Amino acid sequence: MNHASTGPFDAQLSAFPDSPWVVLKFGGTSVASLENWQRILGIVRARITEGRRVLLVHSAVSGVSNRLEELIEAAIGGDHQPVLDDIARRHRVLGEVLALDSDTLLDAELAELGQLAAGIALIGEASPRTHARVMAAGELMATRLGAAWLGAQGVEVQRVDARELLRTRPVSGASERGRYLSAACGFDADDALRARLDALPGVVLTQGFIAGGEGGETVLLGRGGSDTSAACLAAHISAQRLEIWTDVPGLFSADPRAVPSARLLKSLHYFEAQELASMGSRVLHPRCIPPVRRSGIPLYVFCTSRPDWAGTIVSAAPVEDGPQLKAVSSRKGITLVSMETLGMWQEVGFLSRAFECFARHGLSVDMISTSESNVTVSLEQLANALDDATMAALVADLEHICRVRVITDCAAVSLVGRGIRAILHELGPAFELFEDHRIHLLSQAANDLNLTVVVDEEQAHRLVEQLHVLMMTRYSEGSVFGPTWQQLHGDIAEEARPWTPPTPWWVHRRDELLAIAARDSAAYVYDLPSIRQAIDGLKRLPPVSAVFYAMKANSNRDVLRCVHDAGVNFECVSPGEIGRVLELFPDLDRRRILYTPNFAPKGDYQYGLERDVWVTLDNLHPLRAWPELFDGREIFVRLDPGQGRGHHEHVRTAGVHSKFGIPLFELDELQSLARAAGARIVGLHAHTGSGILSPENWGGTGSTLIDVARTFPDVRYLDLGGGLGVPERPGERPLDLAALEQTLEAVREAGPDYELWLEPGRYLVAAAGVLLAQVTQLKGKGDVRYVGLSTGMNSLIRPALYGAYHEIVNLSRLDETPSEIVSVVGPNCESGDRLGTDRLLPHCEEGDVLLIANAGAYGFVMSSNYNLRAPAGEVVIGE
Ligand code: LLP
Repeated sequence: MNHASTGPFDAQLSAFPDSPWVVLKFGGTSVASLENWQRILGIVRARITEGRRVLLVHSAVSGVSNRLEELIEAAIGGDHQPVLDDIARRHRVLGEVLALDSDTLLDAELAELGQLAAGIALIGEASPRTHARVMAAGELMATRLGAAWLGAQGVEVQRVDARELLRTRPVSGASERGRYLSAACGFDADDALRARLDALPGVVLTQGFIAGGEGGETVLLGRGGSDTSAACLAAHISAQRLEIWTDVPGLFSADPRAVPSARLLKSLHYFEAQELASMGSRVLHPRCIPPVRRSGIPLYVFCTSRPDWAGTIVSAAPVEDGPQLKAVSSRKGITLVSMETLGMWQEVGFLSRAFECFARHGLSVDMISTSESNVTVSLEQLANALDDATMAALVADLEHICRVRVITDCAAVSLVGRGIRAILHELGPAFELFEDHRIHLLSQAANDLNLTVVVDEEQAHRLVEQLHVLMMTRYSEGSVFGPTWQQLHGDIAEEARPWTPPTPWWVHRRDELLAIAARDSAAYVYDLPSIRQAIDGLKRLPPVSAVFYAMKANSNRDVLRCVHDAGVNFECVSPGEIGRVLELFPDLDRRRILYTPNFAPKGDYQYGLERDVWVTLDNLHPLRAWPELFDGREIFVRLDPGQGRGHHEHVRTAGVHSKFGIPLFELDELQSLARAAGARIVGLHAHTGSGILSPENWGGTGSTLIDVARTFPDVRYLDLGGGLGVPERPGERPLDLAALEQTLEAVREAGPDYELWLEPGRYLVAAAGVLLAQVTQLKGKGDVRYVGLSTGMNSLIRPALYGAYHEIVNLSRLDETPSEIVSVVGPNCESGDRLGTDRLLPHCEEGDVLLIANAGAYGFVMSSNYNLRAPAGEVVIGE
């Protein structure tokens, strides 16, 4: 549908369905080229054909407002002519393209601008009043060109000065800057204004961004204020609708530049649009919603360069049964002030005294969270002048009443939608993501339209991406959610595209898998080529000298042979694991086995030492209690670098809460105990956790180990551990190996004398394994549908133990459209015997084969005979 000609307009959404007026607002990019002006012409003509009167509001040509700001600065510095010339040149170029005599058209405005700049240069400063006059020139000049061009195309146009149409209303306590540069206008219906416009023939064209002050002087509505101008005018003249034409196709469920899988939001309530605008979406100015909301005028957002796209409708129309969550947004540049005091508890007036300090320094507080002894508030960079002096003065003031900590460079990440409180239970998986991110503040808005967490700025992007995948991709296209940004822009750059995983191996081997499941009813199946492929990826990391496979992830004999044949070494944690490696490869060079026992009995160490494998100590106890074992030995030590990471707290293996590793404060004692025992420490090891997708993890470990190695002269090897994660949830991106290579390269450069080792388990085998199980029974209970399987937590305990997510598909019905939300459960006598919750599957029948993906790591090895049910056995395919 071409909205320029027909439009998706439903007059009944409007409080003024019969009003002849529509207000069209075009932004700076929309008025900067002939092509766009031709589109504007088409849109205007279509509205006239529709029988409407058009009030056209537009901005300065894109880039000009920034140049005007620079002009003021340059004039204060006394050297404004080059900037002035550039501003004139930009308009002249556009004028030429539009075949207009811009010199004559803009003569008066340019002359005035020159005088203003000269005046600023003369006195060396610009008052807010002068500032406003300079900035207004952008809109005044652009609308001269716009009106002349439309006129030349045969459209009857009246150019009216916005300072006559829009008057500001006084705001008590506003500063002079506020009054001139960020003024507010009223938005009541204005019959006199309406009558004035009614009396003008043709299209009425005026400027955005500028208005008349109380005495008629020029004032501005704040940067981005053209939307507000258009909304106030629409309200004044009781327009049937407001159309905002911009350079993006509407409002999205996330910032599409950061998340290309962001969905177009086809319809939103005013409140939601308001929330999105305030929460950092830059499409609409937050101040433009109240005028249209109060008047009941629907607001449409369209893309000037693609008038055929659907756009977003913002109105009061309720979307019955529509999804509640609408978007994930983020705002950077947030500073937190944390105020700690025991005195606050049950004390009257602490908050008022604290806020008094903020008010005194002109700082506006955005979010707040309180506990018995702490109040943390956020300050927004954009709304506040957060210079060092202001912050220092604030802190000094606050320190009279509490302990103060300022946390800078934070970002607020928000889930936006209606009735967030009612869907808190759905947010469970979202909260799991926060385990990996340090949360400084959590706030659930009193208006129930957003749930916001404040995290470190560098975390925000990934968190938004993850939350979007988790919460937003499940909605099908309908009246609220439209196509993704990527679908709309089929031609976007490769690196900006969302991650679409390659088709998994098990789709290609479906028949083979179904035959196995028909025979075994439940089975683990491992695809050896997939293991080789994962190994290949890691072996192409030049900074890594050796890879040791953490065989605890999967100790199947064929898997071990495959790993061995690919030239990978082994990391073992028990005599049993070493025994299995030696059983398979009796002649293996013992230096290709690294042994990392933890709280193991003395005999386990003797076992490893006798077999001459590398032995790692991760406690001082063995050196203190059994020094004789290590006399003359070269050993490894496992250090705790201090910060654990990983997909679940059970798998974070560093930091104060973990039982692993020698803390850094024990290094001196380690040195002397090793010396006393006659052992030489030749390797340092650290493993921070498991299931990590951020490459920086190994960079951090590397630099800690290099620092420590400086005081251990015999060290030759730095083992940075395993923990390399694999994508689990749909849309999750894999570990970026190129970024990992860069990080490791930096480590190698910092410590060129050391060999770098990695010891991954999961990364080599997870995706290569699947668990197959047959459907046993079906049941509906309450509002949950259950699909029962022939095996459950006795085969795969990860979902029950860690809440781990494994993709589940119905292999028997791979081509059928998913239609039901079900919980997939096993036959064990525990409520936790659940392999997947709320999964979208095609209708399942008894005997169907379900496939549980990504089960090659920590699957069979962690299985049990619980309930005396034998777990699924193992089958290897693809020799
Ligand atoms: N190195 C050491 C010292 C380890 O403790 C581990 C895993 C690894 C290497 C290999 O970590 P990977 O690359 O596989 O992440 N059962 C849990 C994982 C526990 C990992 C224990 N240690 C799970 O299913 O996620």
